[in-house]
Order: sequence, then C-alpha cells, then structure tokens
Amino acid sequence: MDVEAVIEEVLPRIRPTEDERAFVEGLMKELEKLAVETIGELGLDVKPYFVGSLAKDTYLAGDHDIDLFLAFPLETPLEELRKKGLELGKAIAERLDSYELAYAEHPYVRARYKGVKVDLVPCYDVKSWGDVRTAVDRSILHNRWVLENLNGRNEEVRLLKRFLKGINAYGSEIYVRGFSGYLAEILVIKYGSFLEVLKNTDFMLRQKIIDPGNWLKREYETAMRTIRREADADRPLIVIDPVDPRRNVAANLSWERYGVFYFRAHQFLERPSGEFFFGKEKRSGNYLEELRRKGTHLVTLAFNAPNLVEDVLIPQLERSARGFEKALSREGFSVLGWDVGRKGERAFIMLEVDRRERERVKIKPGPEFFTERGWDFYRKNERVWIIGKRLFAEKAVKEDVSGVIVELIEKNRIAMGKNVRENIRNAEILLDYVPKELENEAYLFLSREKWNLKE
Ligand code: CTP
Ligand code: MG
Repeated sequence: MDVEAVIEEVLPRIRPTEDERAFVEGLMKELEKLAVETIGELGLDVKPYFVGSLAKDTYLAGDHDIDLFLAFPLETPLEELRKKGLELGKAIAERLDSYELAYAEHPYVRARYKGVKVDLVPCYDVKSWGDVRTAVDRSILHNRWVLENLNGRNEEVRLLKRFLKGINAYGSEIYVRGFSGYLAEILVIKYGSFLEVLKNTDFMLRQKIIDPGNWLKREYETAMRTIRREADADRPLIVIDPVDPRRNVAANLSWERYGVFYFRAHQFLERPSGEFFFGKEKRSGNYLEELRRKGTHLVTLAFNAPNLVEDVLIPQLERSARGFEKALSREGFSVLGWDVGRKGERAFIMLEVDRRERERVKIKPGPEFFTERGWDFYRKNERVWIIGKRLFAEKAVKEDVSGVIVELIEKNRIAMGKNVRENIRNAEILLDYVPKELENEAYLFLSREKWNLKE
C-alpha cells in the first residue's frame, strides 16, 4: 500500500465525527455559560478560556477531555488565586456530575460531566511571556499561537499524534518522556505536514534548534541562554517556545523516544502501514526458553505497589533498579539489563544476571604484616599469606544471587527510590521463575522485544 492510501484509511478512524463534534461543542457552550454565571455569583473578575487540543481542534476521535482555564487578573496575589481558584472550580463542579481534587503546581478541580473529564484550572490572564507566573499560565498563549498558525492543518496534527501514540512516543509525562501534543503541533506548523515531519527526522536532529517564534531575532540573549542551557543538558531537540523564549518545548523529550520515532518514521516511509498508528501486538514467547538460549538468569523482585501515580512510581522503580545494578556488579555479578513495571496491585523489578552463583570466597587484602593491625589480622583469620609486605586472607561470602540481594537490602547498601524502599524490603525474590501474570513481561524483557526497533 502506498502512503496516501494508508493515510486515507487512518484518517476516518482518528477524525472526530460530526456527532462527536456537535456533542463536545454543545458541552463547551454549556460549560462556558455555567462558568460565567458562577463567576458572576461569586463576584469574581475571572475570564474562562478553553485550552488544550479541544480548543485547538487537534484532538483525536474519542479523546476529548475538556480543559477550562479560569484566568485571574495579574494583580491577584498567588495565595488568593489558589484559594479563590479552587473555590470557583468547586462551585462550577457542584453543578456538574461529580468531581475530585487534583494536584499539580497548585490544586485544581477535576470534574466529570456527561461522561467527559473536565479540568477546571486556575491561572493568570497573561498577555505575554513576561507575565507568566505559574506553570499553566502559558497554555492560553499556546492555544492562541496554534490557532493563529495552524492554517487548517488539523488533520496533519491528528495523524502525527496518532502515529506517536502508536509507536509509544506520545506524552511528555516523566514516565514516557515523549512528544507533547503542543510539540507535535509545532512540528506540523514548521514542516508543513505529517509526512514532511516524518521525512525530516534526520534533518531536525542535525539542525537541533527550532525557533518558530523567531526569538533569536527578537530576544537574542534570552533565547541564547535557553539554547546553552538545553545544549548542556544534551537534549535531542531545542524547540524554543514560540510564546516564551525561556522554555524548550522539547525539554522532556528523551533520546530514546526520539530514537524510536526516528526509526519508525524511516520504516513507515519505506513500508507504510496502518499498524504504526494503532500499535502492533508484540511477539510473545516463552521466557524460560529465552533464559536457555542466552545462558543467563532472571532475578525478579515482586512486591506490593505503593499507592502512587505512574509519574512518581515508575521513576522511583527505575532508580531502584539502577541501584541494584550497581550494587550487584560491585558484588561480582554482571547485570545484562533490567526492567520495571506495575501489574495491578503488584510492582516488579527484573534483573538479568550472568550467573546465579558466584565463588564462595573473596580475597581480603589486609594491612602490612609488621604492624599492630597486621598482628590483629593474623590472629583473626584462618588462612593468612603474604604478597609483598601485605597480608591476605580468605573471606567466606554468600554465593547465590538471592542471598546476596537479601544481604544488600538488609545492610541498606542499595540506592532506592524513597517511596518504594519499604515495599522493596518486603519483596519476594524469585530466581528463574515468575508468576503467571508476569510471564509475558519476562519474555518481552529477556528477548528485548519490548524495545526492539526492528520490524
Ligand atoms: N502543555 C505544555 N507542555 C507539556 C504539557 C502540556 O505546554 N509538556 C500545555 C499545552 O499548552 C497544552 C496544554 O498544556 O496545550 C494541555 O496539555 P495536554 O492535554 O497534555 O495536551 P493537548 O494539546 O490537549 O493534547 P491531547 O490531545 O493529548 O490532550
Ligand atoms: Mg488535552
């Protein structure tokens, strides 16, 4: 199939239908009226703005969360904005179906109305980047910039977002570190279309700096500071936010996610298929066979997952896995790789190691033989010998990897995420065996199918 045909096939699946459009537009009208009324009743000077992909008409079919921002005048003290913003959000949400509080830089209300998620987010009514005071303030500016520059290429954005989702590179949350919706919009605006973005993955990387707002002409010093900072941090892309020269829109994009995008874009252009957009079932197989094929061993720590959002949990599990990798290699095991995750109530850390047993002794170097400490060493150890002027002895050590891990945990010798430490201390340690629900995870990890770039 050629590219055009694939795109023609994909578009109707991701473009919202007229019914969906009418439904969300109706909701937005209703919400706006409700907000204006409530603002009046509370006697506030607040402007409601719709932002996010709904307001920009770049949302994917079936994916229509509403972001309603409540913009306070710039003179409002931050404390007052927090307090009044939350009050207002609650007062609006009282008239919807249900709500709960959510926390970002400041608390906001997350409501549901007719089956749709509605975020009611207080912010400042900023006119330009100099006014920005909280992390969410730029969204109003983003929205305006995209509306002014997209010029009808909404379907191109939908294609790019769906493609990024299909290859698992969409979302700027820390556990994804992929492309945000706003970044996808900017790339389409810059390169002109979905296909042009894909054709430019190599050029984009070499060019490195994308400056759609022309900040290098308008605000040279500020833009350069951003560029230097982000170059020092070795980001794959530096996309100077067209509404704020201090920010790299791609600051959360990792080399791994960019790399996946890079290879998938090449593969798609070479052999186009709808599978890229909707994800392909990963090949599955038997993890025990993988262990036999590789001659390696699998240590799995399985434990109760603490009640944390993915954004916090996953980075802490990763940190802990790196801690185990370090500690085990100090103990003479070589760690070929690791993987972490959550399955329902349980979380896991898997470590692939070269062997399940090490030698039963370590050679312990001692002091010089003619010293007080030398005599001490001589008395305390069973077999003692000299090399040069130093004494040496044997020290018995735990030989199996599970025992070593238990000991390392007991002695607190492993760097771990602070909210998962206690849970890991109580982990079950499994060797070359995983419970049924982790079998596929183990296979995907050991075979590296989980990250395999090749088709
Ligand atoms: N935003 C941002 N940078 C991020 C995440 C969000 O600037 N890393 C801002 C953008 O202004 C964006 C708004 O927050 O328009 C809403 O974020 P989100 O819902 O994540 O993006 P959408 O553009 O609405 O895309 P989606 O279709 O995925 O909801
Ligand atoms: Mg959104």
